Amino acid sequence: MVRPIITYGDPILSKLAKPVSDFSCIEDLIQDMFDTMYEEEGIGLAANQIGIDLNLLVVDISHTEEWDESMVFANVEITDFNGESVIEEGCLSLPEIRFDVTRPEEIVLKYQDQTGKQIESEFGGLMARVLQHEIDHLNGVMMIDYLSPLQFQQYKNRLQELTNRQKEETQEQFSRGIVL
Ligand code: NI
Repeated sequence: MVRPIITYGDPILSKLAKPVSDFSCIEDLIQDMFDTMYEEEGIGLAANQIGIDLNLLVVDISHTEEWDESMVFANVEITDFNGESVIEEGCLSLPEIRFDVTRPEEIVLKYQDQTGKQIESEFGGLMARVLQHEIDHLNGVMMIDYLSPLQFQQYKNRLQELTNRQKEETQEQFSRGIVL
């Protein structure tokens, strides 16, 4: 099921996600995350972007040569990193905003798969890039947090628009009585 994307201005995007402890009941949620990500044409999605406070993210870069299947990561922790690369990023929670972000080129990641299995693995290329963007979300960090105060000015009006829109949507949900 496609769920609405939470955009900038909602406090759930600024908080540390809770760990996944019960892996027996996240199957539907994972499916919803993929459905939503594909609908919005994203290549990665963190659970808090659909309003769910869990340390869970999905990635699908199978359109590239680099990877041939979709991936699920829970309880993620970057244990090492190496190198540096600059890539332009966008974010489903920051519509119409794109800019270059500098991040490590390779990471070592400790995580659990959708069955709860503990894995430690190295990632590079686009996968490392998407993972770092989504892991930031789960830590309450968004790509605009990397902007200098001067660069931030450039996006200030757009961010204010997004904050206003998010507030209106929250109020609408309150009046309809379906706060999720
Ligand atoms: Ni994002």
